[in-house]
Amino acid sequence: MSIKAKQVAGVTTLVLVIVAILSAYHLATLARLSLEETALRGEMLARAVFQRAREVQPPPGGDLRIALRDDGGVRSILESTIAYSSNVTYAAIADVNGVAIAHGFHDLEGQRISEQEPENLADLLTAGAVQQLRAVFSDRTFEVRQQMLAGEEPFGSIRIGVSMILIQNELRDATRTAGGTILGALIISSLVAVVLAQWMLRPIHVIQSGLTRLGRGELDVSLDLPGEEFRDLGSSFEAVSAQLSAVREKPLPSASTDLESVMENLEDAVALFSTTGEVIFTNPAMKALLEEHGDHPAMRTLIDQALAGRKSLGPVPIRRESVGNGANESAEHLLQSHAIEDSAGRFLGVMLVARNLGYLSHVQSTLNYSRKLAALGRLMAGVAHEVKNPLNAMTIHLELLKQKLEAQQAVHEGRLPKPVPAQGVDMHKHLHVISQEIRRLDEVMMGFLKFARPDELKLQPVQLTDLVSDVVTTVAPEADRYNIAIKVECPPSLPEINADPGMLRQAVLNLALNACQAMQNGGTLKLACRATSRKLVEVDVEDTGVGIPPEHLSKIFDLYFTTKEKGSGIGLSMVYRIVQLHDGEVEVQSTPGSGTRFRLIFPQA
Ligand SMILES: Nc1ncnc2c1ncn2[C@@H]1O[C@H](COP(=O)(O)OP(=O)(O)OP(=O)(O)O)[C@@H](O)[C@H]1O
Ligand SMILES: [Mg+2]
Repeated sequence: MSIKAKQVAGVTTLVLVIVAILSAYHLATLARLSLEETALRGEMLARAVFQRAREVQPPPGGDLRIALRDDGGVRSILESTIAYSSNVTYAAIADVNGVAIAHGFHDLEGQRISEQEPENLADLLTAGAVQQLRAVFSDRTFEVRQQMLAGEEPFGSIRIGVSMILIQNELRDATRTAGGTILGALIISSLVAVVLAQWMLRPIHVIQSGLTRLGRGELDVSLDLPGEEFRDLGSSFEAVSAQLSAVREKPLPSASTDLESVMENLEDAVALFSTTGEVIFTNPAMKALLEEHGDHPAMRTLIDQALAGRKSLGPVPIRRESVGNGANESAEHLLQSHAIEDSAGRFLGVMLVARNLGYLSHVQSTLNYSRKLAALGRLMAGVAHEVKNPLNAMTIHLELLKQKLEAQQAVHEGRLPKPVPAQGVDMHKHLHVISQEIRRLDEVMMGFLKFARPDELKLQPVQLTDLVSDVVTTVAPEADRYNIAIKVECPPSLPEINADPGMLRQAVLNLALNACQAMQNGGTLKLACRATSRKLVEVDVEDTGVGIPPEHLSKIFDLYFTTKEKGSGIGLSMVYRIVQLHDGEVEVQSTPGSGTRFRLIFPQA
């Protein structure tokens, strides 16, 4: 139900109830007044009869009853009462038993006035409105009575029978009028309610039409809202409308030009083919590609198959070696075709997308280069730190040596007394420290050189399973020493990788040794190899040792980083370097207290 209908129904019902109550009240009042008037008239008649009856004197020794019956005055009053009062049904003087002594209808004299005693009209006057109304519409006869006494004795009564028909007719007329009034009130109230609803709901209509206009895209829609209460609402609406306008007014390109420019600038090559295989659209990247590869059989087959099967196909790699600027360039693309359907599911054609893998590898190599630079920075910091320590120690010892030599010179020249003999031993010690530091420096530099300029890579197909069992043989005595169980899970049919076997062996051995050193109270060393779906081969070196604290994880591959008393901190950085030289990756996962897993990932040969 709409707000308007509700409002009309509400107002109409209210008016209906009020008019109905008023009408009922009016009818009840009318019924009471009519009854009172009837009773009054009846009493007047009864009193007239009574006055006359009082004057009737029976002849001496005669019967009052007979005298009353035969009295012409009484009779004429009784008869005229019936004749001239339209709602009087009978008028009689009855004895105490209700038998008519004198009756307006002469024939009825000597008979009971009525079989059942009629109700007294005086009682009805004191009854409630509902009872009165019910009595009026019940067709019953009521009586107005006037008691008569003969001396002190009750003699009988004057009875005027009153019919309700007249009152009934009067009330019917009044009811009809009330009905008409109710109907009129209903019509008027409905009309008023409609007008009222229109007037009260106007702000809502204004807001609704404003929203519709905003929805249609009109700018700066303002509302003409009446009254104080709606002023705030109006200003909020206008603020929203202004904001929307500001957003819309920004020069936005249309959807199609937007799409076109996106296509134009797309790095991927895109083309649309109709159901018959004609080219409908190509972006610049695709134009260049079609010039280059237009006759490539794989490309043509892909489009034909997609058109025939009406489904998406690919990806299919295509590669073309071309000679440009004296250097060999290879351009590799990944082709994919997508079936295009409209909203009703009808096949419209095929979209061909070609992704330039050369571009991707260019991005990748740039990323690798920056990663390498960052690693180099860290490496140089490590080297500087390692070189600084021996140099500091050497400077201090050289200074001490210099002082002692000067003191010896002074003794020699007689400027100082003879020195204690221990001084010669002291100088020897300084020299020893200096030579030790020089050796350490040399070690640092040798380690660095080994790291920075590893022997030239001699790549060849390597079966990792064999390499792992070789490492196990080497590491077995160390494992025995710490009571470590070795578990190997390498399938014999593992794909080969292109690698330098010596270097790779060293990397896996370094990891295995670190693992053993982390399990000095025993544990399990697990070496596992597997081929993955992405054409990679993985080697896991896993231990159940002490683990690596999270704060060390970022440093373990740094050159010279070690937590071991006799460690050099070169092992893992060599591993990292070797894996890098093989285009591989290293992953490490460690939980302090429960173990560490190093994973080397290499591309398949
Ligand atoms: N499996 C492992 N479990 C726990 N910590 C390890 C493990 N592998 C390496 N680490 C931590 O990484 C550090 C660096 O290891 P790295 O092999 O580079 O040097 P190192 O073992 O200390 O010395 P070395 O040059 O003799 O190998 C170690 O000192 C150790 O703290
Ligand atoms: Mg090590």
